[in-house]
Amino acid sequence: MQEPMPAQSGKLTAEEKLHLLVDFGARISSELHLDKLLDIIAQQITHMLDVGRCTIYLKDEDTNELWSKIAQGKGLEHTEIRLPLNSAGFIALVARTGQTINLPNAYEDPRFSMDVDIVTAFRTHATIAVPLKNNSGDVLGVFQASNKSDGTPFDKNDEGLLRLLAALASGSIEIAKLYEEVHVAQLETIYRLAVTAEYRDQHDTRQHLKNISIISYLLALALGMSKSEAELIKNASPLHDIGKVALADNILLKPGKLTPEEFEVMKSHTIYGGRILEGAHSKVLQMAYKMSLFHHEKWNGSGYPKGLKGEEIPLEARIVTVADVFDALCVSRVYKKAWKTEEALAYINEQAGQAFDPNIVEAFLKVYPSVKRLYSVSSPHPTQQPSSATNQTKLS
Ligand SMILES: [Fe+2]
Ligand SMILES: [Fe+2]
Repeated sequence: MQEPMPAQSGKLTAEEKLHLLVDFGARISSELHLDKLLDIIAQQITHMLDVGRCTIYLKDEDTNELWSKIAQGKGLEHTEIRLPLNSAGFIALVARTGQTINLPNAYEDPRFSMDVDIVTAFRTHATIAVPLKNNSGDVLGVFQASNKSDGTPFDKNDEGLLRLLAALASGSIEIAKLYEEVHVAQLETIYRLAVTAEYRDQHDTRQHLKNISIISYLLALALGMSKSEAELIKNASPLHDIGKVALADNILLKPGKLTPEEFEVMKSHTIYGGRILEGAHSKVLQMAYKMSLFHHEKWNGSGYPKGLKGEEIPLEARIVTVADVFDALCVSRVYKKAWKTEEALAYINEQAGQAFDPNIVEAFLKVYPSVKRLYSVSSPHPTQQPSSATNQTKLS
């Protein structure tokens, strides 16, 4: 989290501005997360221009829209605004033409659209918008600042400062967008890989993977882990059964009960999973390695492949084990009916200290109301994000 800006106290001197710009350059160049980066930039613009609102719009090439998250009041809730690039308002005009537009009195100018003000309950007086361009001159988005605290319109100095901030920020925004794309591509690849393994023996595979990733995420948070650790657990958990890709069809697809010999072979999916993921460099795959190798270990030491006991079993594996068993009980298979969530909960509770870590069972009891909701959602694909403070508003 970035340092909060000092409170605004009157006009900044040239020296103070220079100092802020140098500091700004350093902060944005080390921030790879787009949301946090946009937050830093918006705070800087608000502070340096001493304005009531700063909005950063970015171009969404896929939908041909400009989008922005606008903070609502002092809370953390954000409204996502989407403007079609071909819309009539002056923000879309700045994006299309690459020219700055300065409106001393917004409501008297026909180029100003009140749509965003209506949605966000804000009254724009004076406003200015500058294009955000990359090194090749392509427009990436628009910076908008509104309502100077002294009530005056924006002058040439303000315009120059906003353009300078846009020029400083464009490189970092481009890098953060690329970083986000690579991150999304990595997660998507992991998820598709997991689906491949699960597809071999189940029909409702995606649902199973989504359910266990959400339950694992909730458990990690309830156990006091940070949001980023919980995210890693959520993203790694779908790979727990990746070792199944190495099992022969006659065992994996056998409709009846496995013989003791066949069950021994089935158990080896943990070893294969470990081999597939061993030595990975990324944190998420390192975590998936532990999950795939140890997700059938039991707290009392009676599990496999190694018969580890208690805390010898890595925590991430202990978490995914509870999520995996709960979901397996709650869905129907060719050989069994789906259990009611209460019945599965009773089983999880009963196995505390036997199959499962008692602390994780305790955490499961805490998150159970959310888990139950997950199973009562009629949609076959509940969202992977259990909570979000973002509303989306599409404006024309
Ligand atoms: Fe498994
Ligand atoms: Fe599973």
